[in-house]
Amino acid sequence: MSAPVSTLPSGFISADDVLHDRLGASEVRRLELHYGNAELLYGLELLGVAGPFSRVTPWELEDENGVRRINASGYAATPFGEMPPVLTDFLHGFLDHNRSMGLPQQSSAPWRAALEANLIRLLARELPSHADSQVFFCSSGTEAVEGALKFAKAFRPDSKFQISFGSGYHGKTLGSLSLTPNPEYQDIFRPLVPGALTVPYGDLDALKALIRRVGPDKITCVIVEPIQGEGGVNIPPPGFLSGLGEYCRKHGIVVIADEIQTGLGRTGHWFESAAQGLDPDIITLAKPLGGGMTAVGATIARHDIYKKMLGGLSSKRHSNTFGGGALAMAVGLKSLEYLIENDLPARSLELGRVGLERLRATQQNYPRLLENVRGQGLLLAMQFQPMLGVPLPGVLKELVFEATALLALRELHESGVMANLSLSSKRTVRLTPALDMPRDVFDTLFDRVDDFAKRRPVSRDLLTGTPPVLTARLAKFAASKPKKRTPSDG
Ligand SMILES: Cc1ncc(COP(=O)(O)O)c(C=O)c1O
Repeated sequence: MSAPVSTLPSGFISADDVLHDRLGASEVRRLELHYGNAELLYGLELLGVAGPFSRVTPWELEDENGVRRINASGYAATPFGEMPPVLTDFLHGFLDHNRSMGLPQQSSAPWRAALEANLIRLLARELPSHADSQVFFCSSGTEAVEGALKFAKAFRPDSKFQISFGSGYHGKTLGSLSLTPNPEYQDIFRPLVPGALTVPYGDLDALKALIRRVGPDKITCVIVEPIQGEGGVNIPPPGFLSGLGEYCRKHGIVVIADEIQTGLGRTGHWFESAAQGLDPDIITLAKPLGGGMTAVGATIARHDIYKKMLGGLSSKRHSNTFGGGALAMAVGLKSLEYLIENDLPARSLELGRVGLERLRATQQNYPRLLENVRGQGLLLAMQFQPMLGVPLPGVLKELVFEATALLALRELHESGVMANLSLSSKRTVRLTPALDMPRDVFDTLFDRVDDFAKRRPVSRDLLTGTPPVLTARLAKFAASKPKKRTPSDG
């Protein structure tokens, strides 16, 4: 069947051109360099990881040259890989049969109702105190955190301070950014939302001391990732989360568990907070709920907290246009169903043990490349030795750390593995494979990681193994001011 001819004015790109792959990879990059987030794209292009990539199977992608790689990237938001049949098959049916409103802001809606109910029933199975909690949907992780912070403040209107943890990551809109203590992301935007306080992650005594010093009544909330994701996969010491919960409960401080990365199976449990003995008042979810295909965020709050912000005529005090839309909710509902029916959190825990063992073996064989590996479930981290061992001043050290991770990402890519950087941990590269990745693909993934380490057994090799022209271009890029980019820039 020939593709329909577009009647767009010349210079415009038709949706059919994109659908039928008529744009071409180099044209895609050219357009992005010109009209999009050019500097990011340019950096990725220099590293040879800019894509675009196409799906071969849900777990494997190929580039324009037909080179296939196993996808362990996706920042934990692709729980079933790319275009998983469970969702694509379902979406055909959805498009054929759905008759409910697309964006039912001011009416009840079946897809949203079903997902609300299933999420709370799932949560209450793990944490029975949440049986009458309620959900508010949105379209990203950071928006789910914004909602959580507003719920907490509305519940404790006379309080002023919010506590988060060092290396924590909660998003980049202003409220969540205020609680993401990373100068790289925060500094230029100061002053941020006032009242953010930071405590070292995992340090319960420091948390208690801070709360005592400030006064519990002045603290609105504590927001915590049950395992830090962007911070480089940091697992807190046993007793930290349960102790945090107990102490905050005693003082009426709202506890927000940010489960955007950990939740719904990534770390091997439905809710990592519950698995670690924390019964939070508010839970944020996002990434896996969208099945890797669309944007779904959710803020779940206990009934008394929910009604304080959204009670009676104030029920429009927090709202959005797209949250709860039919397509997003349908994908969310089907994704949750697939997770439940296949008990993917349990699979993640089990497979994660295998993956971590493989990484440990690689680290033991190549300790001059890998300083440390860690993880739980399918949230796995490799922390690299810095490429330059000499003591360096702060800024330069950070730059070396970052360059180490970038070159490691490049080399992994060349070895057939797509991995993630860590937004708040410069020399940590993470692997977040799909929770349903077949065992043979999973094993090949770790064979390839091991091959990469064999090729570059010492972190310095990441630098010496990089073509000098590329090193020079990367250095020039790091030192340059933003400008209009073209693919041939150097
Ligand atoms: C724990 C946590 N919270 C919040 C966010 C922000 O989510 P989003 O990027 O969808 O805004 C992330 C994203 O990585 C995250 O890991």
